[in-house]
Amino acid sequence: MGSAGLGLGIIGCGQISHWHLQAGREDDRATWVAACDVRAEAVAERADEFDIPGRYTRVGDLLADPAVDAVVVATGPEAHVEPTVAAFEAGKHVLVEKPVAITADDVRAMLDAQGELVGACCSSRFRSTDAARAATEMIASGELGPVRRLVCQVLQAPPDEYDGTSPFYLHRPNWGGQGVLADWSCYDLDYLLGLCGWAYEPELVMAETSGVPEHFRAIAEPVNDVEVRVGAQARMTGGVTLHYQRAMFAAVEETRGQWRIECENGALDLNMVPGAPQAVATRFGQAPEVLVNDSYEWGEIHQGPVANFIDAIVDGATPMTTLRNALIVQRLTDAIYESARVGQAVTAGE
Ligand SMILES: NC(=O)c1ccc[n+]([C@@H]2O[C@H](COP(=O)([O-])OP(=O)(O)OC[C@H]3O[C@@H](n4cnc5c(N)ncnc54)[C@H](O)[C@@H]3O)[C@@H](O)[C@H]2O)c1
Repeated sequence: MGSAGLGLGIIGCGQISHWHLQAGREDDRATWVAACDVRAEAVAERADEFDIPGRYTRVGDLLADPAVDAVVVATGPEAHVEPTVAAFEAGKHVLVEKPVAITADDVRAMLDAQGELVGACCSSRFRSTDAARAATEMIASGELGPVRRLVCQVLQAPPDEYDGTSPFYLHRPNWGGQGVLADWSCYDLDYLLGLCGWAYEPELVMAETSGVPEHFRAIAEPVNDVEVRVGAQARMTGGVTLHYQRAMFAAVEETRGQWRIECENGALDLNMVPGAPQAVATRFGQAPEVLVNDSYEWGEIHQGPVANFIDAIVDGATPMTTLRNALIVQRLTDAIYESARVGQAVTAGE
């Protein structure tokens, strides 16, 4: 670590990099010392904006810069594994954007290269909120009794007029050839499993996925026919079950979402995204208790992973989502894709 604190490098200077660079700039323990993108103009734009001295178009050159202690990998998911493994091999700590990778094998390759370095994933993003902290404490306290069921159901109303930009994975075939499951399941699953202290792992998964509903195909005109709807059930270790549903084109007037942890003596109802209330605890025989009412702003969640990454390097804190935790999420995601593909229940691997 140099005199200016922890030297940070960013790999991938696209949309999300702005949030990382801003979050790092607000932390006086670290300094952005290098930026890399295969597109020189993207590097120049971000480096000028954030006054970053090291400017590279090859990952290897950034990793050879002795001022770099740690990197944020903010490329698309199909390009996470190579820079992450190379960064570990060069002795740099790594924070990887979400989804951590395209397959669990990619995450295993990252883990094989990690050694004693810090490795973390941004799928923790939604657990930096007050509601997530309150829920984590309540589950850890055991007050609600053993966890029985993890439930997530998000039904998103289709756009009235399709503007041709969202969901973006319909237009970006290089985005791992994956859709809403890869894009959002990592957040939903990280949220529910992380709130439970990463105590549960998948055993058996039964799932189905489907593409843009017939009614919308004319307006959506996907070039990349990926899943926009997913439904899954999983048997987890510890006798816990997971019920998961997410749809970008759902037959609802208004978008609605539910994230719920059911325990033996009560349940927690949570709102992972902005909206009120954020967290409500219901104990059998008692009136519901609002743990956190006030919402948060979307921008706030981007600070969490970077601050937590710096905590882990500087103070030895455990990252909210380690790469080993991210592997649990990716194993579930892989098993959901596999079960949907073969039309049968599948085991989730090690
Ligand atoms: N955009 C968002 O709002 C958002 C929000 C949360 C998370 N994310 C995640 O962040 C990641 C990046 O998303 P984005 O929207 O910023 O994508 P983007 O396409 O805007 O940016 C990715 C950048 O990486 C560069 N790149 C690709 N391969 C590279 C390589 N091998 N070496 C160096 N640079 C390379 C591209 O040129 C591009 O500039 C994804 O994993 C995404 O899921 C994005």
